[in-house]
Amino acid sequence: MPDISFITPAGDVVGFEAPEGVSLMRAATGFGIDGIIAECGGQARCATCHVIVDEAWVDRLAPPSDEENEMLEFTAVPRQPCSRLSCQIRLTAELQGLVVQLPELQ
Ligand code: FES
Repeated sequence: MPDISFITPAGDVVGFEAPEGVSLMRAATGFGIDGIIAECGGQARCATCHVIVDEAWVDRLAPPSDEENEMLEFTAVPRQPCSRLSCQIRLTAELQGLVVQLPELQ
C-alpha cells in the first residue's frame, strides 16, 4: 500500500494510502482528489489526469509510452519536464512515498 502525496495548486499536501496495481489516476479519483478529471477513463486519450511528478521520483517511473508522450502535448497547462498522465502510472510498492503536483487546470 504505497503512501501517495498530492500537492494542490494552492500548495496544500493531501496524502493517502493507495492500493498496489491500480493506476495513480484510479487511486486519486477513488480517494476523492479534486483536480483529476480523467474524462477518457484511463485510455491516455484526454490528458485531464495530468500530474507533475516530483523530480526525485521521475526516474523511478517507467518512461512514458509514445501514446502518453503525444497526449502530453494537449494538457490544459503546458507540459513540464516532469509531466505525466496519472492514468499511465501503475502503483507498485516501489512507489511508496510518491509525490506529485496537480496542475492549476485540467
Ligand atoms: S484519464 Fe484520460 S488521459 Fe488519463
